[in-house]
Amino acid sequence: MIIKTRKEIPSSEITPEAVYRDRRKFLKSSLAAGIGGTGLLSSTLNAQTGDALFARAPADINLASKPDWLVEKAAARTDAPASGPFNTDEELTPFDDVSTYNNFYEFGTGKDDPARNARDFSIEPWTVKVEGECAKPGSYSLEDILKPHTFEERVFRLRCVEAWSMVIPWVGFSLGDLLKRFEPTGDANYVQFDTLVDSEQMPAQRSRFATIDWPYQEGLRMDEAMHPLATIATGLYNDILPAQNGAPLRLVVPWKYGFKSIKSIVAIRFTKTMPNNTWRDLQASEYGFYANVNPQVSHPRWSQASERRLPTSLFMPRRIDTMMFNGYADEVASLYDGMDLRRFY
Ligand code: MTE
Repeated sequence: MIIKTRKEIPSSEITPEAVYRDRRKFLKSSLAAGIGGTGLLSSTLNAQTGDALFARAPADINLASKPDWLVEKAAARTDAPASGPFNTDEELTPFDDVSTYNNFYEFGTGKDDPARNARDFSIEPWTVKVEGECAKPGSYSLEDILKPHTFEERVFRLRCVEAWSMVIPWVGFSLGDLLKRFEPTGDANYVQFDTLVDSEQMPAQRSRFATIDWPYQEGLRMDEAMHPLATIATGLYNDILPAQNGAPLRLVVPWKYGFKSIKSIVAIRFTKTMPNNTWRDLQASEYGFYANVNPQVSHPRWSQASERRLPTSLFMPRRIDTMMFNGYADEVASLYDGMDLRRFY
């Protein structure tokens, strides 16, 4: 990755996340006790938790406008099973860090550029083109794409190839459930995704110095894409996605380096052959197609054996060992049986 600065980010206030966790527990026990009705629940919550619950102001979500139906759908998400791969119980990365320490090169290469430059990003209207080896190609509105799916909270580790990581409570659903609706044919061996190209809204796409040949693209083998852990994220922290995190929909592939988790998707293409992916295109000797998190295979310029769990500071480096497949080996290792993971990095 072309890393300009390796700025340490300050340790931030984590109280809202602790409260958020408590709120989830509280909601569960209230529901179990038979308290019904959103009005009662929210007033009880306010009395219980005070303003701290709202310390993370929803207004912090950068977007020109927020479709009501999407906000409601995100808020009504169901919980993932209490334990297991869809719900790590590791400490959550605070919302402030998740939404201000970003890689989204369309908005600039600095970690804080996306939050600053995406303030007025518009997701209305939003269309996703579906192409290639499938029975139902076409141009689908955001409503067509998202409305049929039940949103679920999925708390995953996100491990960037740059060796930092976060734990994020995403809102979303399995990518495979979406892809099935387009009826991929027997010739669909891979699926490719494109990010929006809109130089009016994405300042780095106007730059003459941009090294990326837009659109940013990513791809998965079909069996990877159909794995239930491969997720279409539509929100985080119980709300819709901030622009800098890839609104209105992005991939989250938790066992792969973060660059596979392409943001702000506008095209889905089923292909026979292995499609292009942006970072491999830029520097194939450093970034592959598979990009599975693997502590045993170093990046040519740094080790992948450990990672910094954000937020960090000089006095709190929070360096931890990196896990094979980012800790999801039990679920996904069999996808790569017999493959040389040094060769197919
Ligand atoms: N998607 C697009 N379109 N453009 C990007 O620059 N960066 C990738 C990925 N998706 C990127 C992208 C990288 S390198 C990472 S680590 C993750 O997004 C970061 O996601 P986050 O900013 O939500 O943490």
